Amino acid sequence: MATKARFQAIRGTRDLLPPDTALWNRVEQTAREIFGTFGFGEIRPPIFEPAGLFARAVGGETDIVSKEMYTLEDYEASDLLDRTALALRPEATASVCRAYIEHNMQQWPQPVRLYYMGPMFRRERPQKGRYRQFYQIGAEVLEAVRPETAKDAVKELAKDAAVDAEVIEMVMTFFSRLQLEGAQLEVNSIGHAAPPVDGKNVCRRGYVEHLRSELAKVKDQLGADSQRRIETNPLRVLDSKLEHEQPIIEKLPRIASHLCEECKAHYAELKRQLDLRAVPYKENWRLVRGLDYYMRTTFEITARGLGSQNAVCGGGRYDGLVELLGGPPAKGIGFAIGEDRLILSLEESAKARATGKPESTVASRQSIDVYIAWMGANACAAAIRAARSLRAAGVSVELPPAEQKFGKALERAAKLGSRFALILGENELQSGEWTLKNLADGSQRKLTESELPGFLERATQ
Ligand code: HAM
Repeated sequence: MATKARFQAIRGTRDLLPPDTALWNRVEQTAREIFGTFGFGEIRPPIFEPAGLFARAVGGETDIVSKEMYTLEDYEASDLLDRTALALRPEATASVCRAYIEHNMQQWPQPVRLYYMGPMFRRERPQKGRYRQFYQIGAEVLEAVRPETAKDAVKELAKDAAVDAEVIEMVMTFFSRLQLEGAQLEVNSIGHAAPPVDGKNVCRRGYVEHLRSELAKVKDQLGADSQRRIETNPLRVLDSKLEHEQPIIEKLPRIASHLCEECKAHYAELKRQLDLRAVPYKENWRLVRGLDYYMRTTFEITARGLGSQNAVCGGGRYDGLVELLGGPPAKGIGFAIGEDRLILSLEESAKARATGKPESTVASRQSIDVYIAWMGANACAAAIRAARSLRAAGVSVELPPAEQKFGKALERAAKLGSRFALILGENELQSGEWTLKNLADGSQRKLTESELPGFLERATQ
C-alpha cells in the first residue's frame, strides 16, 4: 500500500509538548502573579488585525512590516469587492493601542495598565531563539494627556520617568522570581521627534540629519543594508552587527549631545529612578530598536545561553502612538518579553546547575501522583470512586480503562513516573483497607477509602 505524504509543522513553527509545556505554564502563571501585584490587568486582543494598523504604528519602512509580516486578504461573502488586507500580528503594542481607542479607555481611571501573552508572527530566518511563530509576554501603560497636565511640564517629565522605571522594575522582578541568570538591562534615550522650530531641527530630527551627513561620508565602507538605511532610517545603522562596521559606527556622533532639555531631564530622572529601585543597568547609546513608535526611553534585556539572539525583552516609551492611530493624545510605555527565549535561557541555566550532579530521571510527559492498579469487576467501581475523590482533592490520577495484572500495572506506573500506586483487588475489597505503594522507596501502607484523599493530598503537596 502506498504511504501517504505526511504533514509537517511549517518552517519556523513548532509544537510545544509535555513535559516542556509545564515550564511555559509556570512562566505564564508567574507573570500573571507579578504583573498583578503591579496593578496590571490582562487584555486578549485578536491574533489578526488590519494590516494598516501595523504599517502605521510600527512603520512601513521597518523590517517587521516591509519584509516579515504575514498578510492575507479577506472579504465579506456579501461583498466580494470590499477586500481588506489583514495581518497576523507581528507584535501587540499596536493592537493594545487600537483597543484603548476602540473601548474609550481614556475614560477609565488613568493610567491603564494592561498585559498580554500569546503568539506573534514574523517571517524571519529561523534559527535558535528565532521563530516565525513565537510567543511574547508584554505589558503596556497608557495614559491620556489631560490639558491641565501641560501646565507643569517638569513634574510630568519626572512622573513619566518614574512610570518607565517602575515598568522596568516589574520585568526585572519577574525575571528574578523565575531565577533567570545573567539578565542584563541596557537603557538609552532616543529623544523625541518634534517638528522643526524656526526652521531648525532639534532633538532626534537634528541628530538624524547630523548622523545622515556623517554616514554619507563613510558610505563606501558600509554594507548594502546600512547603505540603504542611510536614506530610509539612519538610526538603524547603529543596530548593525556586521563586524567590519563596528569601528566605523563607534566613531559616529551620539544622540546624547543632541537631546533637548526635556529629553535630557527625562533620561536623567529615569536613571535616578532605576537607582532608587536598585535596578542595575548599563547605558547603550546604540540602542535604537527596530520599531518606529519609540521616543525617549528605549531598553533591552539580554540573558545567557541564547547565542546571537540574546535579547529576551525589549521595550520603550511611545507617547503619541495612540493619537497617530486616530485616538486622543496619550502617552505610553511598555515592553515585550520573548517567551521562547526566556524558556531557552531558563533551561540552559537549569542544565548548567545540574552539571556534575547525577542525571535526574526522565521527566514524565504527564505528571502523575497516583496510578490505580485495579483488578476484578468489583474493584472497577471502587477504582472509579477513588479516582474521583482523589482528583477532587487535587491529586493527579491515572485510572487504566481496563484491568491489568498487578505486575504490568506497577511497571507502567513506574514508567509514567508516578509517585504512588494504589492497589485495589479482591483482598482489598474484602478487608476494606486499600494498599498504597510508595514507588520511590517501595514501602507500603494500608488505608481505608475515606482516609485516602486526605493522606494523598498531604503526601503529594
Ligand atoms: P521587539 O523587540 O520586536 O519589541 O520584540 C520583543 C521581544 O520579542 C524580543 O526581545 C525577543 O525576545 C522576542 N522576539 C522578537 N522576534 C522574535 C522571533 N522571531 N522569535 C523569537 N522571539 C522573538 C516588540 O515587539 C514591542 N512590541 C515591544 C514593546 C511593547 N514596546 C513597547 N511595548
